[in-house]
Amino acid sequence: MDKIFNSKIILGCMRTSNLSVQELENLIFAALDLGINFFDHADIYGRGKAESLFGDVIEKNQGLREKLIIQTKCGIKNGYYDNSKEHILYSVDESLKRLKANYLDVLLLHRPDALMEVEEIAEAFNTLKKQNLVRYFGVSNMNPSQISLLQKYIDEKLIINQIQLSIVHSVILDQFFNFNMANNKACDRDGGILEYSKANNIMLQAWSVLQASWEEGTFLNNPNYQKLNEELNKLAQKYNATPEAIAVSWILRIPTKIAAVVGTTKVNRLENIAKAEDIKLLREEWYALYKSVKGLLP
Ligand SMILES: NC(=O)c1ccc[n+]([C@@H]2O[C@H](COP(=O)([O-])OP(=O)(O)OC[C@H]3O[C@@H](n4cnc5c(N)ncnc54)[C@H](OP(=O)(O)O)[C@@H]3O)[C@@H](O)[C@H]2O)c1
Repeated sequence: MDKIFNSKIILGCMRTSNLSVQELENLIFAALDLGINFFDHADIYGRGKAESLFGDVIEKNQGLREKLIIQTKCGIKNGYYDNSKEHILYSVDESLKRLKANYLDVLLLHRPDALMEVEEIAEAFNTLKKQNLVRYFGVSNMNPSQISLLQKYIDEKLIINQIQLSIVHSVILDQFFNFNMANNKACDRDGGILEYSKANNIMLQAWSVLQASWEEGTFLNNPNYQKLNEELNKLAQKYNATPEAIAVSWILRIPTKIAAVVGTTKVNRLENIAKAEDIKLLREEWYALYKSVKGLLP
């Protein structure tokens, strides 16, 4: 378990399916050189292409698999969700074939499926564990009630919840700060996932840490987020780092077990981002970044 919780920065592979094998190999080895050994996949990334390209790199490099923590997700199908036992087992089998690997380090349920039978999920996870096909289990995009429900039936501890979180998409903090206020930010949209994760020793993995939203793309140098970019640039100068490293350090500063899943496909950007691990923002700096997007605190 320690090997998994050591990684503060995780390389997300959602956008890697258009790389060549050589480019992906360079990115993976650059990550390892930077101390990043945790890689996040999903069966659907590039319709399987992201996993199979990654598998090509593993096949090319003897002994590489054992140096990597490989996490993948299942449960999203074409236009609907499927967390049935049959689909989970099928999906893991297919991911392993594409990755050319004998086991997964972590399997996450990608999204809550309203038709999921928790007993079936428990059976699927037990089978995968017994067959040594998956070492650890977790979820993604789930609230505390959904996790508690699953955990009631599943023998293995759910150790991870992967959620959207960035300085701009900081919904879980809006609710945290706006307790009992008659404003929109006070709406409970996540059931207190931050507190729940800390109390239950669940690692949060933040996805899209540099994105404002799917529609807007990154907030970096985005004219809609001028104030935020001014703060990021100021702190980048102070810490002798780049704005993306400051944005990632903002995530890592949250005092719970947390990692940032970064989605760059460029080695030089990954090198910049890796500096985030050495930056500990002061309280007033962390709050200034939040306020540059969300305005005054209550
Ligand atoms: N669980 C879920 O539901 C879920 C959903 C979405 C994503 N994810 C995971 O989270 C990972 C990260 O998501 P994401 O790709 O949206 O995250 P991100 O790190 O916020 O965004 C990466 C994207 O921003 C671009 N970018 C532009 N300027 C950049 C800069 N200065 N520095 C770094 N990147 C810059 C990158 O382009 P370049 O490649 O050109 O650098 C890349 O296209 C995914 O790979 C996936 O593993 C999970």
